[in-house]
Amino acid sequence: MSRVINFSAGPSTIPLSVLEHAKAEFTDYKGHGYSIIEISHRTKIFEEVLHSAMARVKRLYGFGENFKILFLQGGGSLQFAQVPMNLMTKTGYAEYANTGNWTNKAIKEAEILGINHRVIASSKESKFDHIPEVKFSDDADYGYICSNNTIYGTQYKTLPKCKCPLVVDSSSDLFSRPVDISSVGLFYGGIQKNGGPAGVTMVAIREDLLDRADDTSTPMILRYKTQANADSMYNTPNTFGIYMLDLMLEWIENEIGGLAKMAERNEQKTAILYEAIDASGGFYTGHARADSRSLMNISFNIASGAEVEAKFIDEASKAGMIGLKGHRVLGGIRASLYNAITAQNVKTLVEFMNEFARKNG
Ligand SMILES: Cc1ncc(COP(=O)(O)O)c(C=O)c1O
Repeated sequence: MSRVINFSAGPSTIPLSVLEHAKAEFTDYKGHGYSIIEISHRTKIFEEVLHSAMARVKRLYGFGENFKILFLQGGGSLQFAQVPMNLMTKTGYAEYANTGNWTNKAIKEAEILGINHRVIASSKESKFDHIPEVKFSDDADYGYICSNNTIYGTQYKTLPKCKCPLVVDSSSDLFSRPVDISSVGLFYGGIQKNGGPAGVTMVAIREDLLDRADDTSTPMILRYKTQANADSMYNTPNTFGIYMLDLMLEWIENEIGGLAKMAERNEQKTAILYEAIDASGGFYTGHARADSRSLMNISFNIASGAEVEAKFIDEASKAGMIGLKGHRVLGGIRASLYNAITAQNVKTLVEFMNEFARKNG
């Protein structure tokens, strides 16, 4: 079997061993005579999978007893609205750091909902090429950041510390490194980049925040508390997605050795690509400022222009490397080096890049 190297920004590549595991038990789950996708979520068999995935999330990040893990639907995009709907108090205000497309969308939802909010930091003036300094007010209802900016390829090196609850959109660096959760009130991410297929959003929420939503105006389905009380089964959850997430987290825990090891691996492989860009004599130029470079998404351009970039993407695809086209708002090339990408995959890309630069430089 020949698998391509998939640098897609999401949904994205999954370790072959995880796919093989799912394949092996797909039609007959652990000898029960049915597939995991064919049974009720209310069975002990599914609940074991659900609780295993929840426990793994807690273990990996170190979320304590005072956190609830939820598996929701609606993607990161629903969280843009669900966060203010649940965390705003009647008289309070929220603060946002604007670092690109995904925070812009979150801010837009706050505007539509008419909540009292302000943008306290932004890197818009320099085309979101860096992470600005972020300092949230002590008494804000919450401070909102996106820890990794999938399009612009920037990432917080560490999460900001604050007294107000920190809300983190970690959709594109979920399960990729350990983070300091001491300020975190709510931590979320769609799992489709580092944790399995699309369709599940992981939300870790501090229990004391569950009571903030206004029961008279927040629909039941949109209250975190509803899902927390129902063990994420108020409505039928994405059973297959949660099953795949559990397998992915098992891979991170047992094959890789946890988030610190995952981060080490990610740092090593990303360095290979950044070094190649920096050593290309200006043929390739990275978008992100060096101090804000992402370990997950590397967005870069070819100085000679869009036509040569299109040729690069086409030739890479013929050489078995896909998903390299940059997001439409930035153009150029983007290589997403999520957890399942190996150092060898990156070396193959770099060999191709060096050869391409030699021929087209
Ligand atoms: C950082 C970030 N947040 C939010 C989203 C939106 O996620 P979804 O498409 O699952 O709603 C994305 C999508 O790629 C993302 O990269």
